[in-house]
Amino acid sequence: MASSVLFITIFSALIFLSTQTLSQHTQLFYPGFNASTNLTLKQYAGIENNGVLRLTNYSPDIIGQAFYATPIQFKNSSTAAHGGSSNGKVFSFSTCFAFCIIPEDDNYVGHGFTFAIVPSKNLSALSQTYLGLFNRKPSTHIFAVEFDTIQTVEVKDIDNNHVGIDLNSLISNVSKHAAYFDDSGQLYNLTLKSGKPVKAWIDYDSREFTLNVTISPFYSKPRKPLLSYRVDLSSIFNENMYIGFTASTGILAHSSHYILGWSFAINGKARDLELSSLPLPKQRKTGAKISLSVYLSVTAASFFAISVFAFGIHFLRKHKKSNEIELWELQMGPHRYSYRELKKGTRNFSEKEILGFGGSGKVYRGTLPISKTEIAVKRIFHNSKQGLREFVTEIATIGRLRHRNLVQLLGWCRRGQDLLIVYEYMANGSLDNYLFDDPKTILNWEQRSKVIKGVASALLYLHEGYKQVVIHRDVKASNVLLDGELNGRLGDFGLAKVYDHGSVPVTTRVVGTLGYLAPELPRTGKSTTSSDVYAFGALMLEVVCGRRPVEVKALPEEMTLVDWVWDKYREGRLLAVVDPKLRGDYDEVEAAMVLKLGVMCSNNEPKQRPSMRQIVQCLNGEIGVADEWKAPDGGSNGGAVGDFVVSFTSLSIT
Ligand SMILES: *[C@@H]1O[C@H](CO)[C@@H](O)[C@H](O)[C@H]1NC(C)=O
Ligand SMILES: *[C@@H]1O[C@H](CO)[C@@H](O)[C@H](O)[C@H]1NC(C)=O
Ligand SMILES: *[C@@H]1O[C@H](CO)[C@@H](O)[C@H](O)[C@H]1NC(C)=O
Ligand SMILES: *[C@@H]1O[C@H](CO)[C@@H](O)[C@H](O)[C@H]1NC(C)=O
Ligand SMILES: *[C@@H]1O[C@H](CO)[C@@H](O)[C@H](O)[C@H]1NC(C)=O
Ligand SMILES: *[C@@H]1O[C@H](CO)[C@@H](O)[C@H](O)[C@H]1NC(C)=O
Ligand SMILES: *[C@@H]1O[C@H](CO)[C@@H](O)[C@H](O)[C@H]1NC(C)=O
Repeated sequence: MASSVLFITIFSALIFLSTQTLSQHTQLFYPGFNASTNLTLKQYAGIENNGVLRLTNYSPDIIGQAFYATPIQFKNSSTAAHGGSSNGKVFSFSTCFAFCIIPEDDNYVGHGFTFAIVPSKNLSALSQTYLGLFNRKPSTHIFAVEFDTIQTVEVKDIDNNHVGIDLNSLISNVSKHAAYFDDSGQLYNLTLKSGKPVKAWIDYDSREFTLNVTISPFYSKPRKPLLSYRVDLSSIFNENMYIGFTASTGILAHSSHYILGWSFAINGKARDLELSSLPLPKQRKTGAKISLSVYLSVTAASFFAISVFAFGIHFLRKHKKSNEIELWELQMGPHRYSYRELKKGTRNFSEKEILGFGGSGKVYRGTLPISKTEIAVKRIFHNSKQGLREFVTEIATIGRLRHRNLVQLLGWCRRGQDLLIVYEYMANGSLDNYLFDDPKTILNWEQRSKVIKGVASALLYLHEGYKQVVIHRDVKASNVLLDGELNGRLGDFGLAKVYDHGSVPVTTRVVGTLGYLAPELPRTGKSTTSSDVYAFGALMLEVVCGRRPVEVKALPEEMTLVDWVWDKYREGRLLAVVDPKLRGDYDEVEAAMVLKLGVMCSNNEPKQRPSMRQIVQCLNGEIGVADEWKAPDGGSNGGAVGDFVVSFTSLSIT
């Protein structure tokens, strides 16, 4: 026992010596960077000739990390009780840096960057949502201040231009819209991605346990910080930590992140940086890109996806050679797989690997040859313009979305007429297999409830959580996939439409699936968030009742699911519609709530349908159903018959 303690002590002393920790009076000062700067640069990070530290360049889906090469000592373990690094007070520290985020185009804004203090330079970070710092797994001993230019609902971002303090997670402990105070205390907003230099100061006072973050577009430091947070960092910091910066651009996004100068001090004030003496990043020469941005601004009022599509067509006409990498393809950020890789992975698109048929193509199961990752590959039926349009829409739309209840698009491939989209593989297939026609496996109530809540939160994200409104247009059981943990994940975005918040949807060809199609659609031709709500209502009903929205083989009075549910409700026997396969084993209060919600979503009048936000609040028990939405005639749930009795029977669609 004693000898092993001794051994460990010697061993850690050796480690301690070998890491060459800097003393507690560390001062770093880089008014610009050069090759002799002691930084470990990872992935896309690099030092440009003019002395700017580049974290990312304009490419989509990349990460850059730059850490000071040797660890910094943040604690004195010999003052802590037992020499461990988990206790002991963190020294005060202070840092100042100037940065610049240059978006290539407002339509392609990348994620942001962080100043980070981490236990290792070897971070397994993911390139997209996670700012080049985190991955999907929980982390420990990570301190970061984020400068974020995308609102990611998953990590509860407040907006798409904020500064936040992140301890062990990208869910900020505190965050604020980027801004600075003048001396009179007046607050001014500041755009992080303006392409102009911004100065930032981060100061931690270990006596007061305060952490201040201040930003400004000017030389002098505002007296009042933007964020002032009381926190004891001793549980977050190890004795020795690496300091530096991380950034990521994200799928489809073209922006770049630069650090112009940096100073850092332990137990002292970081030296100030003279903005005017710092190097500036070269503004990008735009050659072929101009045509794209002109193109996009011309069509700015129209849909992003359509413009990319048109651009694609334009180039398709110009370049007929199928294997040439075309500009429009490069613009479409997600990973581009090689055709060989996918062909091999799906065993030459073997019929045996087919997982299903969608409206627009076949879906194969596959395995990536090197990483052995399981994937699903959608092969879009060729020689249709429609096919190409859906392909581009889907990559341009879902490729930029991030939500745990959406099927993640991993990449794509195109060879001639062959259009392939690669998704995460969903181990448990689509929801319809668990509901209708004597399913092999029956989902219990908890599982059904989890699926409904998951899909609802995905739809709320599409409608309100992204910088544009995304209308899915094909919400139905066969487009809901179940992952390994039976979470419901919405997939198949081939029919999705994207438009700006606040704009009026345009009239388009009516698409969708009978039984999920809102009755106003054939009349107005306008897909809206409430037509998605209508389809989601049908989905909720079928999950609870275990049958399709329109069952041709059923008795006439039971043919249309919503009418049948409504009839039973009026008879006071609402729960008689619950799936008999559950054998009575379900939460009656919750089932009744979901059924009522489903009926409300099926209202013929779009305005009477709840919003996805209300639905999510209701499913989470934050608001009640009956109190919040009265029946269309103003009574309580009583007289709404006329409004949705018409629903399915009057509907015809080609
Ligand atoms: C590189 O930067 C360091 C520290 O900023 C500076 O002392 C040194 O003179 C620079 N070297 C060159 C070649 O510019
Ligand atoms: C880089 O590190 C080496 C050895 O640790 C040191 O001698 C040198 O001064 C450092 N250079 C700068 C610019 O800090
Ligand atoms: C750590 O604390 C001990 C005792 O308080 C002191 O003698 C030593 O100099 C300190 N070391 C550092 C690196 O601060
Ligand atoms: C960092 O990662 C690389 C490659 O994954 C590995 O070879 C190396 O040993 C790691 N270093 C540390 C200190 O973990
Ligand atoms: C805030 O920081 C603490 C660590 O001090 C962490 O455990 C906690 O989860 C954080 N809270 C939020 C809301 O992120
Ligand atoms: C600053 O931005 C916030 C958030 O976008 C906004 O609510 C506020 O009105 C803005 N203030 C000014 C002075 O522009
Ligand atoms: C942080 O800001 C507060 C409020 O302005 C100030 O009182 C405190 O001294 C600051 N602390 C540091 C470490 O800058």
